Amino acid sequence: MNVLFICLGNICRSPMAEGLFLHHLKQLNVSEQFLVDSCGTGGWHSGEMADERMLRTASGNGITLTHRARQLRPEDLDVFDYLLVMDHQNLKDVLSLYPDQAHKVKLITDLSPAHKNQVIPDPYFGTMKGFEEVYELLNQVTLQVAHHIIKKHL
Ligand code: 4NP
Repeated sequence: MNVLFICLGNICRSPMAEGLFLHHLKQLNVSEQFLVDSCGTGGWHSGEMADERMLRTASGNGITLTHRARQLRPEDLDVFDYLLVMDHQNLKDVLSLYPDQAHKVKLITDLSPAHKNQVIPDPYFGTMKGFEEVYELLNQVTLQVAHHIIKKHL
């Protein structure tokens, strides 16, 4: 299965989601059956590593992020089975570009029963505490996403 995590800048939330999801897949011994990537609806940070605060939060928890930011591109809609966005603005932006692909595009929290009706808040303009909170939330949510997709498709 091919899974793409999408946020606004692709330097905070979606690279962290990608790193945590890969970590869970490895623990569950299914990583070879997945292609995983992340991107942003915007391209302002293309080519950059994740935000230094997100890198620090990740490494403090034993996760190394190596992703370089890139913008969502039309081929992604062909390559990926699941395009998982972080918030309602991301959802609106992706669906307005690709309205006929709505069946592939979901709020990430919609795949985690315990987190329905929540979003992953943008930590960019906040404090380190916000980055820690996003990490904890994504750690839980991406594990549920892994269980959901494994149960449904593998
Ligand atoms: P992300 O966070 O969407 O989680 O990567 C942001 C990163 C950059 C900006 C906004 C949000 N920005 O305005 O540059």
